[in-house]
Amino acid sequence: MKQIRKAVFPVAGLGTRFLPATKAMPKEMLPVVDRPLIQHVVDEARQAGIEHFIFVTGRNKGVIEDHFDRQFELEMTLRERQRSKDLELLAKDLPGAGSTSFTRQQEPLGLGHAVWCARELIGDEPFALLLPDVLVKHPRGCLAQMIDAAQGLDRANVIAVEEVPMERIHSYGVVGVGETKGPLFKVTDMVEKPAREKAPSNLIITGRYILQPEIFGILASQSRGAGGEIQLTDAMIALAKTQAFYGLKFAGESFDCGSKIGFLAANVAYALERPDLAQALRAELKRLIADKP
Ligand code: UTP
Repeated sequence: MKQIRKAVFPVAGLGTRFLPATKAMPKEMLPVVDRPLIQHVVDEARQAGIEHFIFVTGRNKGVIEDHFDRQFELEMTLRERQRSKDLELLAKDLPGAGSTSFTRQQEPLGLGHAVWCARELIGDEPFALLLPDVLVKHPRGCLAQMIDAAQGLDRANVIAVEEVPMERIHSYGVVGVGETKGPLFKVTDMVEKPAREKAPSNLIITGRYILQPEIFGILASQSRGAGGEIQLTDAMIALAKTQAFYGLKFAGESFDCGSKIGFLAANVAYALERPDLAQALRAELKRLIADKP
């Protein structure tokens, strides 16, 4: 497969499940420990060798653009105060000049529409798509695992999948499982939010994709699906008629940070891995849990 150089981050959603926190602030800027969600996901893409970071933003999302820019006044103040550690931290996270692009989805018409908004910036090459409200915790990030697994495939699409208990299957996009090919398996079916009896497996689509550019042509002519939104899964189902789709059961633990429980659990899990926080947090958690019935 051609090298995956570009990644799309759709960040134009309304984040209604986190109101009022997301009234004036984008959901993607909520911190997991001390890094915004979007920064965790950009880190994962960088680790996978991505060179160009494309953000599909919307109203109220300007602060995401600022986050990936220099903060001249802050840097000057830190320099005056000789806070070299903080300055190093900021410099390490700063994407290279010209390696980010921002485009706007003028109305939140769904994930499929957000992806379509990136078509001119992607052009005619395969690309990665990462949903910033899903975090995957593993030393080798999920996208890097997918790119490793996709070596040797030609014009194929790859989606990350994971198991969920069947009682929760109706909330997700679910795949059908075909023959295996190395670490991958052939996806035979994709169903959005199926009833338990109709689900083709217990494997759900997790928020990381490698897609071929032909997806854009399908998205362009697609009518609105469930919830009046242009659904990515519908476009993938159409693309699967002419191109192969593979699934990868990735290694690592995922957190759905679009939900409150997933977000809170991610904060605890990531903090418990931090040498500067783990011990104190463990003690705090024990105290809080002991106090409550
Ligand atoms: P979600 O459906 O989880 O996010 O979309 P949301 O709509 O912001 O949140 P809720 O459900 O109202 O709480 C997954 C990702 O896709 C982006 C979101 O920003 C989020 O990162 N998205 C969604 C868009 O960019 N545009 C859309 O029209 C919809």
